[in-house]
Amino acid sequence: MKPAKLTSAQLAQYEDDGFLVLENFASDQACDALRARANELVRGFDPADVFSVFSTHEQNRLTDEYFLTSGDKIRFFFEEDAFLPDGTLRQARERSINKIGHALHDLDPEFNKFSRAEQVRQLVDDLGIRDPLLIQSMYIFKQPHIGGEVICHQDTTFLYTDPQKIAGLWFALEDATIDNGCLWAIPGGHRSGLKSRWLRSDTGMKFDVFDPTPWPEDKLLPLEVKKGSVIVLNGLLPHKSLANRSAKSRHAYTLHVISGSGEYPGTNWLQRSPDMPARGF
Ligand code: FE2
Repeated sequence: MKPAKLTSAQLAQYEDDGFLVLENFASDQACDALRARANELVRGFDPADVFSVFSTHEQNRLTDEYFLTSGDKIRFFFEEDAFLPDGTLRQARERSINKIGHALHDLDPEFNKFSRAEQVRQLVDDLGIRDPLLIQSMYIFKQPHIGGEVICHQDTTFLYTDPQKIAGLWFALEDATIDNGCLWAIPGGHRSGLKSRWLRSDTGMKFDVFDPTPWPEDKLLPLEVKKGSVIVLNGLLPHKSLANRSAKSRHAYTLHVISGSGEYPGTNWLQRSPDMPARGF
């Protein structure tokens, strides 16, 4: 990976847009090592253990135990369209997983190495996140033909902190294009404030909605990036990705970093057991 000392122009752009694209951040070799490791993990996963589906359309399904207790584990989530009506897989298992989450960076040596590389630490430092904690990691496959849509959202809805300072690092492990489901974002949209929170309550997970107005989706811009790029996302930036109906996958690795000096509420869905607290670099 390249050293990531951000220029003041880059920081100003991040401030203005709520996102920043850094090309050639990770080497092809580093990207390929993560891809190979993710494939190994999928091969070692027995789907009979559990079936779970990730979709921001259907929060009900998200509330299952498997998801809600995955904050400090390595778990596998299927694409919503992975299954035929008879319950069998439409395509091979390694072409059916939506994502792996949410503590790859702590539990897997290869992901730990990538996530805690000096360049990543420097980038997070440049972003001004003090006492950083690596709270969440996801390997996202965006499978050919069935890669599901992720509707427009702010990451802070799901990972709330007080103060609201969280950065998402979105590493492209393959070229991400409009065709295979690249990210879309609303430049400057982070300044309109947090629209909702998804939180634990006595009756299960619920949304607290602060602003019910719809996203101005006509302002979304596609962020097409080359393999090895990282997109830094302000936690309040509205972003989405479309379904992948192309024949090409769009693998990405994401890492979310919070400040240990802020408050991380017990009502966030992602909780870690006391013997495995979130760690920094
Ligand atoms: Fe997101």
